[in-house]
Amino acid sequence: MADFALPKNSRITKGKSHPAPAGASRTKTFTIYRYDPDSGENPRYDNFVIDLDDCGPMVLDALIKIKSEIDPSLTFRRSCREGICGSCSMNMDGKNGLACTTAIEDIKGNIRITPLPAMDVIKDLVPDFTHFYAQYASIQPWLKTVSPPPSGKERLQSPEDRNKLDGLYECILCACCSTSCPSYWWNSDRFLGPAILLQAYRWLADSRDEATGERLDELEDPFRLYRCHTIMNCANVCPKGLSPAKAIAEIKKMEAERIV
Ligand code: SF4
Ligand code: SF4
Ligand code: FES
Repeated sequence: MADFALPKNSRITKGKSHPAPAGASRTKTFTIYRYDPDSGENPRYDNFVIDLDDCGPMVLDALIKIKSEIDPSLTFRRSCREGICGSCSMNMDGKNGLACTTAIEDIKGNIRITPLPAMDVIKDLVPDFTHFYAQYASIQPWLKTVSPPPSGKERLQSPEDRNKLDGLYECILCACCSTSCPSYWWNSDRFLGPAILLQAYRWLADSRDEATGERLDELEDPFRLYRCHTIMNCANVCPKGLSPAKAIAEIKKMEAERIV
C-alpha cells in the first residue's frame, strides 16, 4: 500500500497483537491504526485476528466485533450501516471507502485500516472534519432565491430540470473523494476539493436557485476551483458511484461561458 494513504500523524510505534480465538479455522488479520492523543504516545498498528465464521460480512462488522469482544477502546464512527450516513468512511488497504459497504472477502490477505488520509486524527479511525464542514458551509448549500415563491405553493421543477440533480444529490459527504485527491492533500487550506465542489455544482445545477452569478463569483479563484487537475482519483473512489470530476468540469464550463 502506498504511504500516501497514511493519516497526517504517522510516526508509528510497535502495536499490540490479539491472536485468533481457540478453534478458529478461517481467520483474517485486521491491522488497525491506533492513536490516542491523551496518551502522549505515538500512533501504532494493532493486529486483531478474527474468526470469519463468527463475524458479519462487512469490514464494519469486524470493527464492531473487535470493539465489543476484544478492545472496547477502539474508536470509529458509524451510524446507519447502510451506506447512507457517510460516517464510517476510512481507508481500507489503501483505498478510501465505507466500512459498512465494503465486504471483508473483497480484500485479499490481511486488511490494514487507517483513518481517511491527510486529515488530522482525533482518535484511532476518527478524523477531524472541522475544516471540511467549514468548506461545505462556505458554498452556502441551500436554495437561494430573490423572487417570492408562487403564492401558497412550493417552487416546482420540470422533470427534466429535476433530472439534472441526479448524480449530485446522492452525495453523502463522506469525504472519501476529497481525501483521495492529491491536489486536496497539498492545498486543502484553499482548494475546496471534489466533495465540496460537487455540492457547489448541485446548487448551480438547480433550476430553482437564483444565485448562480454570486455562486460563480465565489468559486472563480485560482485555488478554490482551479486546483483540480483532473487526476480522477475522486471518481474512482466514490462509494456512491458519483463523479466529482465531472461536476468540477461543469463548473469550469459555466465559468468559461460567462466570460466569453
Ligand atoms: S479530478 Fe480534480 S478533484 Fe478529482 S481527484 Fe483529480 S484533482 Fe482531485
Ligand atoms: S462525492 Fe462521493 S466520495 Fe465524495 S463526499 Fe460525496 S459520496 Fe463521498
Ligand atoms: S455507517 Fe453509515 S455509511 Fe457506513
